[in-house]
Amino acid sequence: MDKERKLIIAGNWKMNKTVAEGLDLVNGLKRELAAVKEVDIIVCPPYTALSEVSKAILDSNIRLGAQTMSEHQNGAYTGEIAAGMLKEFSVRYVILGHSERRQYQKESDALIAAKAVAAHAAALKPIVCVGELLEERESGRTEAVIASQLEGSLKGLTRAQVEETIIAYEPVWAIGTGKVASPQQAQDVHAFIRSRLTALYDEAISRRVRIQYGGSVKASNARELMQQPDVDGALVGGAALEIRSFSDIIKNSI
Ligand code: PGA
Repeated sequence: MDKERKLIIAGNWKMNKTVAEGLDLVNGLKRELAAVKEVDIIVCPPYTALSEVSKAILDSNIRLGAQTMSEHQNGAYTGEIAAGMLKEFSVRYVILGHSERRQYQKESDALIAAKAVAAHAAALKPIVCVGELLEERESGRTEAVIASQLEGSLKGLTRAQVEETIIAYEPVWAIGTGKVASPQQAQDVHAFIRSRLTALYDEAISRRVRIQYGGSVKASNARELMQQPDVDGALVGGAALEIRSFSDIIKNSI
C-alpha cells in the first residue's frame, strides 16, 4: 500500500502478561515480523515487563511503548513512573489518555496535555487518545467531543511537538466490545481530526500527524481500515495479546 505517512501499529497489552508471557509474545513477533519494513511496530507492555522486553527486542524492528506516565519529572508521587525512567528501558512511545484511564483514573484533557508536554521534554513520542462514548455518538455529539478532547489534550505543545505526536482515535463503544467502527466511520472522524489540526496549527502539520484507529481491530478488519486515506495505523488491544493475531494485523495492513 502506498501512503504518504508510514503506518504505525501499536499493541496495548493493558494489564496483561507476566514477564515470561511477554517474552514469549515478543519472541514470536520477532520471528513473524522480521521482514516487515513498511510499518512501525510498537509493543506496549505493562511497566513490570519493560526491562526484559526491551532487551529481547534490541536487535529487531519492534519498538517499545509504555501505557501511561506521570506528568512530573521526579519527586514525591507514590506509584508514579516518570518519562526519564521509561527512557532507561529504551521506551520511545507512550500512550496518553487512553479511555480506560480517562474513565477509571479520571484523567482530564489538561492532565493529558501536561503528560504530553513532559513526554516530549524527554523525547518520548506520545500517542494521545481521543474518542466518544456511545451516547455521545448517538446524540450527534461525536465531532464536538473529539474537537474538545483534541484541543485540550494538545494544549501547551509547540507546533514541532504536535507534528511528532500520534493521535489515536478510539471510539469508546468499540474498545474491547467486538463492535468495530466501519471503515467509513473511522475515516470520517480521522478526516475531522485532520481538519481540526489544520484549524489549530496548519495544513502542513495536519498532513504529517499520524492518526491511528483503535477499537476491536482484528486481522479480518485491519486491511479495510488501514486503506482509508486518513487512517495511518492502529492501536490494538485484545488482538495484540497473541502472536498470530497481532502479526496478521500487521501483515494484512501492508
Ligand atoms: P481493543 O482495545 O482492540 O481490545 O478493542 C483497543 C484499545 O483499547 O487500545
